[in-house]
Amino acid sequence: MNLEVRKVASGFAGEVIGADLSREEDFAPVHQAFLDYGVVAVRGGPLAPAAQIAFAKRFGPLMGRRPSTPDKVLMPGYPEIILLSNRREKGQKIGISDAGRYWHSDLCFEEKPNLSTVVHAVEIPPVGGDTLFADLEMAYTALPEALKLRIEGKRAAHTFKKHYLEVMAEGSDRPPLTPEQIENLTETYHPIARTHPETGRKTLFINPGHTTHVEGLDGEESAELLETLYEYCLRPAHIYRHVWSVGDTVVWDNRRVMHNAEPYDMGLYTRHMHRCSIHGDVPF
Ligand code: SIN
Repeated sequence: MNLEVRKVASGFAGEVIGADLSREEDFAPVHQAFLDYGVVAVRGGPLAPAAQIAFAKRFGPLMGRRPSTPDKVLMPGYPEIILLSNRREKGQKIGISDAGRYWHSDLCFEEKPNLSTVVHAVEIPPVGGDTLFADLEMAYTALPEALKLRIEGKRAAHTFKKHYLEVMAEGSDRPPLTPEQIENLTETYHPIARTHPETGRKTLFINPGHTTHVEGLDGEESAELLETLYEYCLRPAHIYRHVWSVGDTVVWDNRRVMHNAEPYDMGLYTRHMHRCSIHGDVPF
């Protein structure tokens, strides 16, 4: 089958048909689609854990376990893969069942945030559990010049702690972090408008989930500026909704998009995904 890349009709993302992700020669067109679109859905079929890890490593070194990741949710035998899942084995949860249900960019709170994320769908619910993506490059491009000037050279603070404490207070059943792991959830500053290191294009780099404030502004001014920017990020024209099929492998560029996983009925349905994360660079 010939490999075909096309833009999805319903958003900014790209779709790849006919790729075999275990083949080295199929990586270049998928990588180009990733740079062109920011989100690429590879429609394929089952992808074995070792093949997913090998494919993900072609983007760069994998992140490995972070202070915000409990050991329990790593795939047995494949610690490079985090299980996003509400499956239980022997009565015990085996993955994170409520991961990413808010707008965020993966590991933006690290000094070197995540470059990309590769998620493979093993089991999906018949309704719910879609993943939304917002293109922050389109958002940046849409800003009026005065707003671009206002954020020029400004940095924002990011931390996982805010979201972690919020979900735990709401009663999440995810495995709790140790006091030492919580202590390690520090705050990191990154430019609000960053330059994509591979495309050279500018994009916003903020998100409601992890970005707490703009450096040097008082609380009210900082909140007003972030709200104004989020209005551009979340315009319908800048959003792509991925409706999963079993066997999809979706790769997204955390340097350019933020995402939000929608809930589903966890009492009725199972959603089981394999996720790998790839190391990025210090944003500039
Ligand atoms: C995430 O990585 O934030 C979750 C993505 C998803 O489950 O769709």
